[in-house]
Amino acid sequence: MRIDVATIFPEYLDPLRHALLGKAIEQGRLSVGVHDLRDWAAGTHKPVDSAPAGGGPGMVMKPDVWGPALDDIAAGRADGSELDSAMPHLERLRHDELQGVAGNSYDGEGEDSDLPLLLVPTPTGKPFTQDDARAWSHENHIVFACGRYEGIDQRVIDDARNRYRVREVSIGDYVLIGGEVAVLVIAEAVVRLIPGVLGNKRSHEEDSFSDGLLEGPSYTKPRVWRDLEIPEVLTSGNHGLVDKWRREQSLQRTLERRPELLHDADLNKADKKFLEGLGWTSA
Ligand code: ADE
Repeated sequence: MRIDVATIFPEYLDPLRHALLGKAIEQGRLSVGVHDLRDWAAGTHKPVDSAPAGGGPGMVMKPDVWGPALDDIAAGRADGSELDSAMPHLERLRHDELQGVAGNSYDGEGEDSDLPLLLVPTPTGKPFTQDDARAWSHENHIVFACGRYEGIDQRVIDDARNRYRVREVSIGDYVLIGGEVAVLVIAEAVVRLIPGVLGNKRSHEEDSFSDGLLEGPSYTKPRVWRDLEIPEVLTSGNHGLVDKWRREQSLQRTLERRPELLHDADLNKADKKFLEGLGWTSA
């Protein structure tokens, strides 16, 4: 996968070089380019924003800066700086050894699925979900446009549909200063699902949200810690009982913390019976 990020704070994206994403870069499964938006700004002061049309507070990012930046990035003409992994100890894989980087399973209505995906983080966007992360983990090329201030002139987003499949996305109902932190969140959620990036496939098959439920609690050694014991079933060696217990913990936690998720979760008879025993009603 190729990720490009356009921002006025390129150094903000440095965490992408670390941990799991650094590993994906080192493995050759991911490459990341970070582009300073000011490279497309004109004049001595290189302004990237201007007062909102119609008046009001704040500043709006200029279309004549963003437009050429997104054109160049889509066409592969933008140099930017290539992020090296902060984990240089892993072996590089040849391109033909990579799995899961080709193919593009995300199709919007009437869109050309060969176009790169442009993600514009904004509190006014559609909520980003695990389903999006799963779909976008199959993309070949994702471009992030980080807005600041009062956002980006809307014509940039509208015009970008000629070169991109565009999604405006929010990471939650709160307002950040800009899109950079949202990019870190979305990129991490997406990249960890690229096949081969996480060592153990089961660890994301059992993620919270992957079956519409929250994951239950986890434990590890020592068996007793500060007088607190690991639930006995987990040390019983009985895999059937362990699976049943985990399912029930997951159902219980979801009921307590995110009951609305149960409406769309895939629940069998036993799940419903267990939940009803906790006072849940399906209506
Ligand atoms: N930019 C500012 N706030 C944001 C949010 N909640 N989600 C995504 N991008 C943002």
